[in-house]
Amino acid sequence: MPKATSFPLHADLETVLVSETEIKKRVKKLGAEIAASYGNEEITVVSIINGAILFTADLLREIPNPIRLDCIRIASYRNDTKSHGKPQLLQSLTLDISNRHVLLIDDILDTGKTFSVVVDMIRKLNPASLRTCVLLDKRGRREVEFEADFVGFQIPDKFVVGYGLDFAERYRNLPCIGVLKPNLQNPPEWA
Ligand code: IMP
Ligand code: MG
Repeated sequence: MPKATSFPLHADLETVLVSETEIKKRVKKLGAEIAASYGNEEITVVSIINGAILFTADLLREIPNPIRLDCIRIASYRNDTKSHGKPQLLQSLTLDISNRHVLLIDDILDTGKTFSVVVDMIRKLNPASLRTCVLLDKRGRREVEFEADFVGFQIPDKFVVGYGLDFAERYRNLPCIGVLKPNLQNPPEWA
């Protein structure tokens, strides 16, 4: 059976930007880069859910270090004209991260607002170190200066879905990353 038929959500994509095979290959390499950077240290991973769930699950299995995992939930308001333009922390950490080596993971670095808020929050908790990792980087959209230490792929300024990234909570289960057909990107405000 052809792949498109076995995964009908593919039909909603205008283009595939990163294939399932490319993701697997890059995630493996990122895991090795991260492991090399930490040596034998234990890592406290902080994953920003829901977007980073799939990436985190795959990446962690490529890092042989001892790992503690915590998740935080952020509400990002996509419409900058709203007064509540700042990302809000909906669910905070449960682990103590003071004096720990923290690796913060998100699905995509876009305007940089989410990371700047979360990084400030984590720094106040006095970790031994803080490094950041994103699967995707849309550098052209940055409003707050921020670069991640580990980046999977640089992508153009397009709204993408799949492999954890959603449009109105849908498409997270697509195994590749792609651009939605324009007629499906309605309303244009990102959920
Ligand atoms: P930032 O705060 O603008 O850097 O945005 C980061 C958050 O916005 C990510 O964690 C995503 O949830 C969301 N986001 C940004 N761009 C996209 C996209 O192209 N597709 C899906 N979600 C996105
Ligand atoms: Mg997100």
